[in-house]
Amino acid sequence: MSTVLVTGGAGFIGSHTTLLLLEAGFEVVVVDNLSNSSIESLHRVEALTGKSITFYQTDIRDKAGLTEIFAKHKVDSVIHFAGLKAVGESNEIPLEYYDQNIYGTVNLLKVMESAGCYRMVFSSSATVYGDPASVPITEDFPTSATNPYGRTKLFIEEIMKDLSASNDRWNMVLLRYFNPIGAHKSGQIGEDPQGIPNNLMPFISQVAVGKREKLSIFGNDYPTPDGTGVRDYIHVVDLSDAHVKAVQKIGALGGISTFNLGTGNGYSVLQMVETFIKETGKSVPYEIVERRPGDIAECWADASLAKDKLGWTAVHGLSEMIEDTWRWQSQNPDGFK
Ligand code: NAD
Ligand code: WQD
Repeated sequence: MSTVLVTGGAGFIGSHTTLLLLEAGFEVVVVDNLSNSSIESLHRVEALTGKSITFYQTDIRDKAGLTEIFAKHKVDSVIHFAGLKAVGESNEIPLEYYDQNIYGTVNLLKVMESAGCYRMVFSSSATVYGDPASVPITEDFPTSATNPYGRTKLFIEEIMKDLSASNDRWNMVLLRYFNPIGAHKSGQIGEDPQGIPNNLMPFISQVAVGKREKLSIFGNDYPTPDGTGVRDYIHVVDLSDAHVKAVQKIGALGGISTFNLGTGNGYSVLQMVETFIKETGKSVPYEIVERRPGDIAECWADASLAKDKLGWTAVHGLSEMIEDTWRWQSQNPDGFK
């Protein structure tokens, strides 16, 4: 049985991917320092699947720790989710982002090389497209970054490309996520942001559950149909499924490949709020405030390359994404606590 090492596997996307990997018959080793997650997510994945996960509370910057893990397990592929992800925070503590994201990834790649493991799937982001000249976005669009977080994703992509060019034993897949939301159908695992959520969907659901008074909508004067920002929201289970397919196809793909993971549909902030109210029957008070610095008007994916090469396509629509988010949020108002 093939073994996948998942860094950041206790987090939002990592826990859903771990669940799907177990269901697909992989052995899973999770490495996570639990800086932004709870071990409870993995206990719930074990309960849902009836399978066990090997877990190490280890930082990806800990070379000795990682070396020991790779010595203990014959790891076939790594899915690398671990890292810091808050755009605003990255402007305040850029060194921490460069250290954890970039140094952490270089450290991981070095340990993998020493252990003879040459397959890695990496969590990149649509943020690498900066402010795109048009939509939908294809993988060959120019890349840029407007904040340290985005720069870490861009630099890591470049590092992985250099490594792939240096030795054709490396097989790499860069997955550029659009806006992941939703939760597993069971309502047992989902997104559990610490403090005030940065992202739209967890904010809306915390207003609906009564934890926050109202949503601030960041601007209604964008050049979009209703003036609010338009994004490509994708169900976390669809996103996770793409990782399973990437791991299954990584050898056949060879070299390094890059895929957009989105649905190809764009929804505005107001459409998200209206659909949430319609699907859940809850009220979501909001006010229009200033634009958030660094935000772009619209962003959605052309995901046809992932369909052609990975045989992957998103199957969950917006209503299901919202229904599943709400099941998780209403059953777990305090997340995993
Ligand atoms: P998350 O914070 O829920 O998961 C990240 C996990 O990594 C957490 O469990 C955290 O404890 C762990 N971690 C952080 N730093 C670590 C370190 N130094 N060593 C070991 N473990 C560490 O975030 P997520 O939403 O599941 O995102 C996963 C990945 O996907 C991240 O790399 C993120 O940048 C990327 N991504 C996320 C989104 C999004 O909107 N959620 C969009 C695009 C890309
Ligand atoms: C979506 C829309 C906001 C919150 C970010 C990162 C990106 C990626 C995904 C990691 C925008 C509006 C939001 C709120 C609002 N992460 N909004 N009120 O900005 O598309 O992408 O997360 O890689 O890198 O930048 O997602 O969910 O923050 O915002 O009006 O309280 O909702 O202006 O139009 P975004 P988001």
